[in-house]
Amino acid sequence: VLGDYGISPEYGFLPAELPLARLPDPYYNKWEAIVANLQGLILSRRLRGVIERLPVLSTAGLEHDSEWRRAYSLLCFMAHGYIWGGDSPEERLPASISIPLLHISAYLEVPPVATYAAVCLWNFKPLFADEHVDNLENLATLTTFTGSIDESWFYLVSVAIEARGAPILPLMLTAIQAARVNDSRTVTACLRAFAERLDDLGTLLQRMREGCDPYVFYNRIRPFLAGSKNMEEAGLPNGVLYEDGTGTETYRQYSGGSNAQSSIIQFFDIVLGIEHRPTGEKKDVSSERELEGRAPPPKHNFLLEMRKYMPGPHRRFLEDVATVANIRDYVETHSNDKELTVAYDACLAMLQAFRDKHINIVTQYIIIKSRESRSLSRSKSPEATRRKVNIATSSKQGKNETGGKKNLKGTGGTALIPFLKQARAETGEPAIDSW
Ligand code: HEM
Ligand code: ALA
Repeated sequence: VLGDYGISPEYGFLPAELPLARLPDPYYNKWEAIVANLQGLILSRRLRGVIERLPVLSTAGLEHDSEWRRAYSLLCFMAHGYIWGGDSPEERLPASISIPLLHISAYLEVPPVATYAAVCLWNFKPLFADEHVDNLENLATLTTFTGSIDESWFYLVSVAIEARGAPILPLMLTAIQAARVNDSRTVTACLRAFAERLDDLGTLLQRMREGCDPYVFYNRIRPFLAGSKNMEEAGLPNGVLYEDGTGTETYRQYSGGSNAQSSIIQFFDIVLGIEHRPTGEKKDVSSERELEGRAPPPKHNFLLEMRKYMPGPHRRFLEDVATVANIRDYVETHSNDKELTVAYDACLAMLQAFRDKHINIVTQYIIIKSRESRSLSRSKSPEATRRKVNIATSSKQGKNETGGKKNLKGTGGTALIPFLKQARAETGEPAIDSW
């Protein structure tokens, strides 16, 4: 069943056949050559010229899905390098990138923008083929914007989390099946194993600090991950025009890359029966509104929106799991089974602890760094002037140097801390014995 969704019990949402390090057809050498020199071309400000001279290549030479994925990843890196790799952002994406990118995105059912799939899921290789990829010591990236170990590490921590989390997929599908036949011992055993794995994933997340420096992340890496939605202050008021040669193109707007596009974390929420409301919405507000006979407010649920940025089969998997998820109900109707409820609550506590660790990282890597950049730009040091572009693209407050941090946005477009704190609080809500 997992195979139908492009998922495997060993690798989870990472491709089981491993990402291709190079497109086999020499016809695509031009793309491979640009990406092989991406850092140098960005640094010397020559990437834009090279891409403007690049011919429009056909997608007819792409065969196996791994080739389509490699092509998608290459084009996304080129596109974001092109848009963000200059003194100010470029709002037109040349046909040499946009025509194949639009075609490939439609085929893979992902948006034509650097998603989590483009930079993480489909962008790694094992260093030693006989060792597993759930070990950070066995991983390398295929492509980066900056060539820094910090950027590689930033992507690879996510890859390792995907791989280490993969066995939770078959485990919790077993639990769903066991709950159906009222086998509470199996459900309990699965939940215990799940909680332990979640603890492991939190430990992996904490390793971000070992290899990715917050300064490098904020000022060098993050600007390239930006999208084209709500980017007025960064210099993209309309979004990006994807040239297709017809002259009738309209501006498009997409969220930038974000781990909120990781299917595995959303799987955890679904299988545990955790519900995430639109940001700012309190618990039970919709039922209150219905009672009062008022129409529900228009909803913008960021985490649901992010499913559109996942590869089509993964998105469908989450939707299908949501229709069969029964663990939370099962635990509730067996709330006198102490071992069961303790194991379930432990999973919620572990996932909440994971979100806590993540919030600490966001504080260190974004909130604090944005404050430092602001005070640096105010002091008008040469370093600050040199970095002005990066600051401007890295967050909304860029051009508004005295602006408070309330304007700060994640690359996905959320208001960071309020959004993340709400997601953390919602994680604890289904607890049987509230702690
Ligand atoms: C969401 C920052 C690493 C998992 C977010 C958001 C930000 C953020 C700002 C809010 C959404 C947005 O607007 O983009 C960071 C930073 C990281 C980092 C600065 C490291 C330097 C990770 C890693 C994972 C992860 C390694 C693990 C797979 C998530 C998840 C969400 C999210 C699941 C969605 C919110 C939730 O479900 O609680 N991240 N992130 N992040 N991030 Fe990270
Ligand atoms: N979503 C992460 C950020 O906002 C990458 O920086």
